[in-house]
Amino acid sequence: MTTLNDCRALDARDALRPLRDHFVLPDGVIYLDGNSLGVLPKSAAARVADVITREWGQDLIRAWNSAGWFNLPQRLGDKIAALIGAGPGEVVATDSTSVNLYKVLSAALSMAAEDAPARKVIVSERSNFPTDLYIAEGLCRERGYRLQLVEPDEINAALTQDAAVLMLTHVNYRTGAMHDMAALTQAAHAAGVLVVWDLAHSAGAVPVDLHGAAADFAIGCGYKYLNGGPGAPAFVWVHPRHADRFRQPLSGWWGHAAPFEFTPDYRPAPGITRYLCGTQPILSLAALECGLDVFGAANALGGMAALQAKSLALTDLFITLVEERCAGHGLGLATPREHEKRGSQICLSRSEGAYAIVQALIARGVIGDFRAGSGDGRHPDILRFGFTPLYIGFEDVWHAVEHLKQVLETAEWQRPEFNQKHAVT
Ligand SMILES: Cc1ncc(COP(=O)(O)O)c(C=O)c1O
Repeated sequence: MTTLNDCRALDARDALRPLRDHFVLPDGVIYLDGNSLGVLPKSAAARVADVITREWGQDLIRAWNSAGWFNLPQRLGDKIAALIGAGPGEVVATDSTSVNLYKVLSAALSMAAEDAPARKVIVSERSNFPTDLYIAEGLCRERGYRLQLVEPDEINAALTQDAAVLMLTHVNYRTGAMHDMAALTQAAHAAGVLVVWDLAHSAGAVPVDLHGAAADFAIGCGYKYLNGGPGAPAFVWVHPRHADRFRQPLSGWWGHAAPFEFTPDYRPAPGITRYLCGTQPILSLAALECGLDVFGAANALGGMAALQAKSLALTDLFITLVEERCAGHGLGLATPREHEKRGSQICLSRSEGAYAIVQALIARGVIGDFRAGSGDGRHPDILRFGFTPLYIGFEDVWHAVEHLKQVLETAEWQRPEFNQKHAVT
């Protein structure tokens, strides 16, 4: 049996432990929801205050040049590129993941329409994050395409002569299952299909190698593992082989080759800059940069490979402790055990009370979240726990499971207050 002292010993040996000091971690809270909203970097409050009081307050409009505001999407994009196997100048931080998906999926469909006009299908996974499916559905309506939804083991078979684009999320938001990006991209390309990857649950959580996989397009979130704050700008990447070809429909002036020439006609900027649309949220970009800069410190300690190794150790420990200490309470494991198939979260399934158990845990300071099942028995209700290796420790895992055990053993979750649904689950 694993003991609390074993967990403390793991923390004592953890070379990444100092990274925790870069974050504000509230007393009495074990935060297992960094896959939904990352925690506050300690530097962010002062940085945003400085942007407000000095850059905005004193420099005013001069700050677009003097404080480098104008180039923030590219500067932050380069920092994100280093985490996802992209090159400098290939990524911009901008807009939301949903909006960026609309842009890249449009670009991919336009390219496919030129190269293979008979291909009229977007293939995706049935359990992909809904916004991805909704955006694809909208584009299908706009352009006369069809969205084909399949299970993970049906993806290869769906890459037929009708398929134009394969749109997948690398790490599944409900289960934490991770696709083999290189193998699926290769299979898609062999079938003449372009690939769009959503890295919302990958960037900053697992090593990603977009160039190694020869992927076409990628997008992802700034507010999850990148710790950019609520509603932080997202990011977008396009492989340089498409750089001078792809267009996006939101052709605003920030994506123009020379915005300050104010010409009446649109001329797209070279490369990824054409993915910008309008004026950027500078305060949000400033906060996101604080989150990204922690990865600079992580690089000195082994970078994404070391972070993934710790994430796997944390999630292995969680699985072990749940199985040792919470057996007999109807919990199932919805996340793959295989390391190469797992992101940085663990999802437990339960046929009854999953929402209320999460609420009872939150009341005890153990913050995870709940994701509803499909209702048809295909996908169960899920208790979801994210393990951000930048700031979660092994002792945290022990205490989280201890609380889970108590909530289950005492049936605390059955209390009425834990069974009232909130708007955000
Ligand atoms: C895979 C995935 N894509 C996109 C999003 C959200 O997109 P947006 O930031 O536009 O709300 C999420 C949010 O959890 C997600 O899990």
